[in-house]
Amino acid sequence: MVEAKLQYNCFWVMFVVFMNMVSNGSCVGVNWGTMANHLLQPEKVVRMMKENGFDKVKLFEADENILEALIGTDIEVMLGIPNYMLQEMSEDPGVAASWVDANVTSYCYTGGVNIKYVAVGNEPLLKTYNGSFQKFILPALKNIQEALNHAGLGSQIKATVPSNADIYKSLHSNPVPSAGNFRPEIRDLAIEIIQYLHSNNAPFTVNIHPFLSLYGNNHFPINFAFLDGKNKPIKDENYVYTNVFDAKFDTLVWCLKKAGFPDMKIIVGEVGWPTDGDKNANIKNAKRFNQGLLRHASSGNGTPARKGIIDVYLFNLVDENAKSIAGGSFERHWGIFQFDGKPKYELELSGKQENKSLAAVEGVQYMPKKWCVLNPNADNLRDLAKSIDYACKMSDCTALGYGSSCNHLSAKGNASYAFNMYFQFKNQGRRDCDFSGLAMLTDEDPSDNKCQFPVMIADHGSSMVLQRKFLKILRGILEGIVGLLLFEGCLILVDYFV
Ligand SMILES: *[C@@H]1O[C@H](CO)[C@@H](O)[C@H](O)[C@H]1NC(C)=O
Ligand SMILES: *[C@@H]1O[C@H](CO)[C@@H](O)[C@H](O)[C@H]1NC(C)=O
Ligand SMILES: *[C@@H]1O[C@H](CO)[C@@H](O)[C@H](O)[C@H]1NC(C)=O
Ligand SMILES: *[C@@H]1O[C@H](CO)[C@@H](O)[C@H](O)[C@H]1NC(C)=O
Repeated sequence: MVEAKLQYNCFWVMFVVFMNMVSNGSCVGVNWGTMANHLLQPEKVVRMMKENGFDKVKLFEADENILEALIGTDIEVMLGIPNYMLQEMSEDPGVAASWVDANVTSYCYTGGVNIKYVAVGNEPLLKTYNGSFQKFILPALKNIQEALNHAGLGSQIKATVPSNADIYKSLHSNPVPSAGNFRPEIRDLAIEIIQYLHSNNAPFTVNIHPFLSLYGNNHFPINFAFLDGKNKPIKDENYVYTNVFDAKFDTLVWCLKKAGFPDMKIIVGEVGWPTDGDKNANIKNAKRFNQGLLRHASSGNGTPARKGIIDVYLFNLVDENAKSIAGGSFERHWGIFQFDGKPKYELELSGKQENKSLAAVEGVQYMPKKWCVLNPNADNLRDLAKSIDYACKMSDCTALGYGSSCNHLSAKGNASYAFNMYFQFKNQGRRDCDFSGLAMLTDEDPSDNKCQFPVMIADHGSSMVLQRKFLKILRGILEGIVGLLLFEGCLILVDYFV
């Protein structure tokens, strides 16, 4: 009975979404990473997403604040499970079941959250992980899907495994898509995963980042990274490629075909372009790439090897100034929106050729207009380098590096930038602008037209979640009191009869 009701509810949510898609005609997904020092209020971000027409969102974990903010919207959700949870989930079906219960089932009711996929891990087969998650992926995937099935959600919610495109490559001196196959050391596992996904009617999810093709290779033809057809076409038998996105996508299509799954549904879990932190990471390139991609994905032309609309989740909604930069400084600058929810450039989400500006997140509160800079009168500069290092380590100085927006600053400008970032990260604390007398406060914005000295936002936390938590606790207490009264009542009755 409970299962039937849940199924009905999810069906209803999906029906509403379907009607909405029909009426809008478009369907744009976006990743919402939250590794940032000052987070926007989720309710405000969700309002912005609705206003702009983002229909789908991919989350890297079941963030309660975000899920609460998504309640009652029809935004379709791919809900992620971080890699560090895979081992536990693979070893104990109970852990998977309680994750599903707490993070999926409890949001899946009429007017709840429209969860459509669960992403089991994030690129767990990535080469740089040296196979450390390898043996957990398939059992974790199975345990999660079985928990979804058991909760009566299996027909609407599918588990999938977002993979980096590095799980396959074109094994040929002339690297054409038709020569593609999975990396030999993970080939058997990849096929087992695909078999399981296929038996479940679940999609294969792949992340494709043309920016990284360019980043890692000085000889990479730059126009081949973009989708506006400016590169000399590359022939692969009867197919012609003008961009690396299609080539990578079709390499996967060939891999799947060779494994016996020519019609497997493919979702592009991440695709995008950063705007800072590298010489090719700037607003012009990001706009060129993302606009070209959206136009291409929604056109229905598909890739040479697979016709139809391409299902994509842009990467990333907002900048993440606390993300690991092991991959490069650009990792903190993938946002279509700045840390404060302002769009960095115009982007027409439906892929049509109109110049429509994106709406910003509204009602953002900032901290006071105060900056921390190098004191021009400081005379003992002996510890300056050490102070800058410390400030940068505790905050984010990726905009200072080679090819970045603030790389033109002088050595003194660098110091001011580092001090300010530290000060803002620390919520403008009174003692956080000192550095043994090297730093001082100013009301004058040190930014220039290229390099932004940000003032962080002030409105982190979510009032809705606090309210709901309070109500939950209140209900718990009331239930406790009622329970106690009933229990006492029983005791009295027992006393009376005995
Ligand atoms: C729900 O997801 C969050 C975030 O991934 C996790 O911390 C939490 O443990 C999950 N709940 C359960 C019961 O597993
Ligand atoms: C993978 O191996 C390399 C070289 O052996 C090592 O430097 C790196 O730290 C390892 N990474 C992980 C995630 O274990
Ligand atoms: C969009 O803007 C570009 C550059 O500002 C301009 O060249 C183009 O004509 C505009 N397109 C439309 C449809 O207004
Ligand atoms: C400022 O810092 C960046 C990053 O550490 C460095 O590349 C650059 O050379 C510095 N500029 C000066 C003038 O020292």
